[in-house]
Amino acid sequence: MSYSKVITLEQYIVDQQALYKDAQGSLSKIFRSLELAAKMVNRDVRKAGLVDILGNQGSTNIQGEEQKKLDVIANDIFIASLSRSGEVCMIISEENDDVYYVEGAENEKYIVAMDPLDGSSNIDVNASIGTIFSIYTRKNPMSKPTVEDCLQKGKHQVAAGYFIYGSSTMLVYSTGVGVNGFTLDDSIQEFCLSHPNIQTPADGKIFSVNEGNLEDFPQGVQDYISFCKAKDKATNRPYSARYIGSLIADFHRNLLKGGIFIYPPTEKSPNGKLRLMYECNTMAFLVEQAGGAASTGTERVLDVKPTELHQRVPMFVGSKNMVDLAVAMLNEEFATAVLA
Ligand code: AHG
Ligand code: MN
Ligand code: MN
Repeated sequence: MSYSKVITLEQYIVDQQALYKDAQGSLSKIFRSLELAAKMVNRDVRKAGLVDILGNQGSTNIQGEEQKKLDVIANDIFIASLSRSGEVCMIISEENDDVYYVEGAENEKYIVAMDPLDGSSNIDVNASIGTIFSIYTRKNPMSKPTVEDCLQKGKHQVAAGYFIYGSSTMLVYSTGVGVNGFTLDDSIQEFCLSHPNIQTPADGKIFSVNEGNLEDFPQGVQDYISFCKAKDKATNRPYSARYIGSLIADFHRNLLKGGIFIYPPTEKSPNGKLRLMYECNTMAFLVEQAGGAASTGTERVLDVKPTELHQRVPMFVGSKNMVDLAVAMLNEEFATAVLA
């Protein structure tokens, strides 16, 4: 890239200000605080192994999952930075049981939902991890902030995105007018526009699912996986199986290359594993903005009305034609079960 053409995130946000739903730059301030926090987490991730931040914290979160040290560090960094932005009244985090109310910000209108570190199981083995965020506004900023204000459908997100700490560090986000990707130039510590207007292919050749659980999947999902693996020259099958175990890394690859990511319902977990408010909704918002689709198997992810902060939903997300077919096959199975 010629250096005269480099566009930093800062510059991009200023240039796009006119497209934002708020002209006062409130969202820009939130992005600045997210960017700063991500740079700090990125610095810590790059030092993992050299300083004592690998391994378990010795505690569990609300979902009973073991917290890694970096989960807790990332949570603290993002909460502190977002709190300082002066624009955010409430933060929902995977690592906090309840809503975090920002002190002195009860009149602010923004709410951020986040997974401060996604892919925790990959931290200790040097595979890609990331931070996921969704931004909402309160309907009535004059009233006291409440949990109810947070339980909004994903379609009301004003912005959403993720930072991926991978072989390079990237920010991918949308404010509802397309999706753009920025890569961190380590030497100047600036995110620079590297992937303008990301569009995901309507058809892909990758399927991503934890096949170890295959026998627990609904018949329709098992059928779709068999379809992906069947040989057929005309449709370029078999597809490639790719599954890292970090939603961010699996989603990011499929977004750029085309593919489908599935975390289906199982007998043990009828709502799957992924969390609606800071995993599924974020990815659903991004993928739709890039021309793809996201479904729970029964409805559009962005139309689900959350009833609790840490709610889980099944998710089929990625290339539009692949998601449509997988959901059709799932419901064929439901139809057969109902008829039987
Ligand atoms: P987190 O590390 O934030 O708890 O999320 C882990 C999630 C998600 O990133 C990934 O797609 C999924 O767990 C993998 O689950 P399985 O190990 O059950 O396949
Ligand atoms: Mn996660
Ligand atoms: Mn997490």
